[in-house]
Amino acid sequence: MAPITSTDVPGIASIVGGDVVRGEHVVRSLNPAQLDDVVAEAALGDASTFVDACRAARGAQHGWAATPAPVRGRAIAAIGRLVEDNSEALARLVTREIGKPYPEALGEVQEIVDTCDFFLSEGRRLYGQTVPSEMPDKQLFTFRTPVGVAAIITAGNFPVAVPAWYLIPALLCGNTVVWKPADYTPALGEALAQLFLHGGLPDGVLNVVQADGPATFEGIERALGEGVLDKVGFTGSSEVGARIGELCGRHLQSPCLELGGKNPLVVMADADLELAVEGALFSGFATAGQRCTSLGTAIVHDALHDEFLEGFTAAVQSAVIGDPMSDVLYGPMISERFTERFEGWLGLIRDHHSVSGSTGQGRITSDNPREGFVGDPEAGLYCHPTIVAGVTAEDEIYSTETFGPIVGVARFSTFDEAMELANGHGYGLSASVYTTSPAHAFRFRERCSAGMISVNNSTSGAEAHLPFGGNGKSGNGGRLSGIWVIDQFTRWQAMNWDYAGKLQKAQMDVGELSGDPAYRLGWD
Ligand code: UN1
Repeated sequence: MAPITSTDVPGIASIVGGDVVRGEHVVRSLNPAQLDDVVAEAALGDASTFVDACRAARGAQHGWAATPAPVRGRAIAAIGRLVEDNSEALARLVTREIGKPYPEALGEVQEIVDTCDFFLSEGRRLYGQTVPSEMPDKQLFTFRTPVGVAAIITAGNFPVAVPAWYLIPALLCGNTVVWKPADYTPALGEALAQLFLHGGLPDGVLNVVQADGPATFEGIERALGEGVLDKVGFTGSSEVGARIGELCGRHLQSPCLELGGKNPLVVMADADLELAVEGALFSGFATAGQRCTSLGTAIVHDALHDEFLEGFTAAVQSAVIGDPMSDVLYGPMISERFTERFEGWLGLIRDHHSVSGSTGQGRITSDNPREGFVGDPEAGLYCHPTIVAGVTAEDEIYSTETFGPIVGVARFSTFDEAMELANGHGYGLSASVYTTSPAHAFRFRERCSAGMISVNNSTSGAEAHLPFGGNGKSGNGGRLSGIWVIDQFTRWQAMNWDYAGKLQKAQMDVGELSGDPAYRLGWD
């Protein structure tokens, strides 16, 4: 592609140590709802840009860690205010660059504000402990210390909220950061970075590398080898997450990996059917199914299966799809790449499945129309919603994360069968149960391997201050959000202080009280 030439399209580049660094490889970001709208041109950096950014972050880290935590908290407060005061402009850009319906985009921006609200005062806590010593005239303490330089690599389906989940606590805890936004959301990367930088972060504290996946991977490898990178946070596919985990493991690092999901929604025989259908509609099709928490398979008790499928099909059929600035259930796919992959997953539908939910499958076009579509489907990357019933544990579609507007439906007769279907795919991110019985709700929680459980609620839509993360193929046990993410971005440091004026040896110079272990009660 030609170098940046157009004057009316914003040109975007990396920010390293406060300087703008323009790479060689120029890519265009297009509005997926209207492909002739060029949102930005980004001059992507390479592996060396990434390493340079880690070096800049390393250079700034001691100064940032020495800035009192309450002062770092004030920067988080300022960032939160800036995001709030720019919320509509940022949400409009979310809609324009990835096609997320505007109300959802506003919700995503709110998640950043909520995270800032939570962490602005954490700067005045970041508690350590005082611990009694086993010897006199000695005191023990624990301190939280920053990990160092954190590289944060995020996906573009939540192009500003998920990065903020990492950036805000990482910075508050005294780390410096290299952030790599998705290469298909450079404008949002730039917009969020500017809001953070205008909150008062000194140069080098937050660096942004606009790069593609392979350059970033090579950059991480080189930065780890050089010792200028101490922590990796990654949200994306399980496949790439495993490669990052392997690489970090070789350097004895534990990355924070937030990966895919195949999230079940179990409908018990005692469920409120209407509520379950409403929950499945939002879980499966909000953000066009492009959330790691989107519904994978609805697992429905035999007694309700046919009625559920009928209600779910009717709800999906009548849902409005189209222009993301209108009142729609969902808009376009995020980008061409997501559309192509989605069309590939439709190939997992087999003859024993029955398909419903729309007037066609795959791309919505004038030859393959969707009833009630709002706008011009051919202007963007729109796909039909698809319900695939008759899914069994043997089907490939049961265990494959299908990132798009497609939901499987399976059936069960016993609770054990439901749990096998809910856990059997090996992911463990989010799971939901619809029931009116507290016993079913708690048994489900106990036996479900997911990190996040919903009762009578959607699989998606986690609140910003509960631990977010998964098990199995969904992650390596790290949790984002709330107090739990602090463990990702700090290390415990233990300190002991002996003021006895003589060497007291632990375990050896410890006093003992003498009791009478042979004593027995004489009451019988
Ligand atoms: C993701 O898709 O990576 O709980 C995160 C939710 C959102 C976050 C999803 N708040 O669905």
